[in-house]
Amino acid sequence: MTLAAEIDKNGTSPEKLLAPVLSSFWDEPESWTLETYRRHDGYEGLRKALAMAPDDLIAYVKDSGLRGRGGAGFPTGMKWQFIPQGDGKPHYLVVNADESEPGTCKDIPLLFANPHSLIEGIVIACYAIRSSHAFIYLRGEVVPVLRRLHEAVREAYEAGYLGKDVLGSGLDLELTVHAGAGAYICGEETALLDSLEGRRGQPRLRPPFPAVAGLYACPTVVNNVESIASVPAILNRGKDWFKSMGSEKSPGFTLYSLSGHVTSPGQYEAPLGITLRQLLDMSGGMRAGHRLKFWTPGGSSTPMFTEEHLDVPLDYEGVGAAGSMLGTKALQCFDETTCVVRAVTRWTEFYAHESCGKCTPCREGTYWLVQLLRDIEAGKGEMADLDKLNDIADNINGKSFCALGDGAASPIFSSLQYFREEYEQHITGKGCPFDPARSTLWADDKDDKNAHRGVNA
Ligand SMILES: Cc1cc2nc3c(=O)[nH]c(=O)nc-3n(C[C@H](O)[C@H](O)[C@H](O)COP(=O)(O)O)c2cc1C
Ligand code: SF4
Repeated sequence: MTLAAEIDKNGTSPEKLLAPVLSSFWDEPESWTLETYRRHDGYEGLRKALAMAPDDLIAYVKDSGLRGRGGAGFPTGMKWQFIPQGDGKPHYLVVNADESEPGTCKDIPLLFANPHSLIEGIVIACYAIRSSHAFIYLRGEVVPVLRRLHEAVREAYEAGYLGKDVLGSGLDLELTVHAGAGAYICGEETALLDSLEGRRGQPRLRPPFPAVAGLYACPTVVNNVESIASVPAILNRGKDWFKSMGSEKSPGFTLYSLSGHVTSPGQYEAPLGITLRQLLDMSGGMRAGHRLKFWTPGGSSTPMFTEEHLDVPLDYEGVGAAGSMLGTKALQCFDETTCVVRAVTRWTEFYAHESCGKCTPCREGTYWLVQLLRDIEAGKGEMADLDKLNDIADNINGKSFCALGDGAASPIFSSLQYFREEYEQHITGKGCPFDPARSTLWADDKDDKNAHRGVNA
């Protein structure tokens, strides 16, 4: 059903389909300050949390149904519950703010506009898991966000939300902000922990899982920024309010990041289960005169969708049933001017560059995928290369040490599934059939040696 039809049926305005919580006051002047945050019920959830016993708090978050927003959708309360209690070891909370997946762009804006929601969530989570030291591992390139985060942490210490005896609760809590050096693999939770310890960021063998032996071999919770930042509102407004949004298995609100060839890119916070059609309808659709060709539901490592998937409910179950993954809810939309071979080549170059080299299928496989894709794009491919692409992706998928390998295989499988003909056109026509003058994809990438070529170039 189109949004217009929905409005007719329910008398609902487009805004009613949105649920701004974390983003509700981003457009206010100085939205990032403690003063603004407090004006919007800031740190009220913490007061309620501190009045509960830690185990009850964990059970409350578990009952709310909150699922991790870092990609896999693992239940947050259950993750906290895995931390062994009474073991005499320090416990750590590590917030994953590495955000490096192509198309994913929610945590960085959230931290820039509303850093206190994360800090409040961190204090609540640390109280629950009995941790007295938390870390935020931030993607290093985003220096303005780093500065803003440092300032928000300073404000929180000054106001007594961090440090000794938080709000008289007896909780002592230190918060360290750590800037990484800009590696996609350092978003993988165990590589992140190695990097935080000062080692080269490469994934660890599991078990043991971080809940048992994480940072400095102590029990550790690793959670995404948005997961932790969502906790204060759940405490403040109640788990039933949270569960009134979304579906039974995917409750609550979340940030959808609309990007690409759309009229109004940006963050749209809505109940889980909204569709791309609804989001496009309310935000002005694809850019004027163009139509959707393909899109990713959750970043480049989630299998791509086409126009036929516009009505798939964007929750964990809905997207899974349609053959992809909700991932980070990074909705990258490409119109008909985009060469799918070019897009997949570009993504694959990213995965080959970011492969940490620890395991052979991913290290070697991503390299060979790039060679084949570049040849196909340049009109030097053969039909047998298409099966070779599938074979190599098959040897990476599920056979690599970490999920980066699976992510690299996703765009290959899904693009061949939906756009095999377009690959074949590159081979039979000996080049790219797309008019580079019409395509806006990476048009600003002037130094890109593989910039979009015409048929005979
Ligand atoms: C290559 C790779 C990169 C990842 N990058 C991120 C990231 O930037 N942020 C994030 O929260 N999770 C990332 N993850 C997922 C984390 O390993 C982990 O599942 C997540 O931080 C758990 O948080 P959650 O339970 O709150 O979702 C990545 C995973 C892989 C395999
Ligand atoms: S799958 Fe890739 S990124 Fe992950 S461990 Fe293997 S080589 Fe490293």
